[in-house]
Amino acid sequence: MNKGRVAVLLSGRGSNFAAMVRASRNPGSNFAVRLVLCDRPDAPGLKKAARFGIPAYQINPRQFPDKAAYENEICACLERENIELICLAGYMRLVGPVLLARYPQRIMNIHPALLPSFPGLDAQQQALGYGVKISGCTVHFVDAGTDSGPVIAQRAVAVREGDSAEALSRRILRQEHRLYPWAISRFFSGRLQIRGRTVIIM
Ligand code: GRF
Repeated sequence: MNKGRVAVLLSGRGSNFAAMVRASRNPGSNFAVRLVLCDRPDAPGLKKAARFGIPAYQINPRQFPDKAAYENEICACLERENIELICLAGYMRLVGPVLLARYPQRIMNIHPALLPSFPGLDAQQQALGYGVKISGCTVHFVDAGTDSGPVIAQRAVAVREGDSAEALSRRILRQEHRLYPWAISRFFSGRLQIRGRTVIIM
């Protein structure tokens, strides 16, 4: 089977990336992570990539005159590896017009809240601060906004009385690690269709 070719863009820990790689190595998986791109030199995700034997490159945005030039370099790496789907996993930048135009409806992200609630940073703390009883995680297609693209899949996580942001984040993360590989495999089995803002999963 020709496996779907995934690149992961990350800035930090890389636990979602690791979950994807593990899922992709299960028998019958329809995708493979071929490339990791990272905007920070010290990201633990880079070491994880080395342990998995997956090519990983650090691309420092400060070495480029502007975001377009930075993203053109990213596109060159993606094209060399014939990447079909980009998965953001803790990538701490907004995706710009260059990457969005080159990979329309081929960029996904995971967010640790039930969007459209609590987009942006510290979503788990935002949810606790608001006092919601249920939060969770969302996989969505990426558009030019912050966590604003069409929702692909969500999982709910109950908020417990006295929860800390760390405890809630841990429980949400466990669900992230299951939801993201599931969404990727649906993408490559051709079972995601976008109609307007709605993603239909067949
Ligand atoms: C996750 O909580 C993800 O939802 C958010 O950033 C965090 C990344 O964690 N976008 P990791 O680097 O995958 O461990």
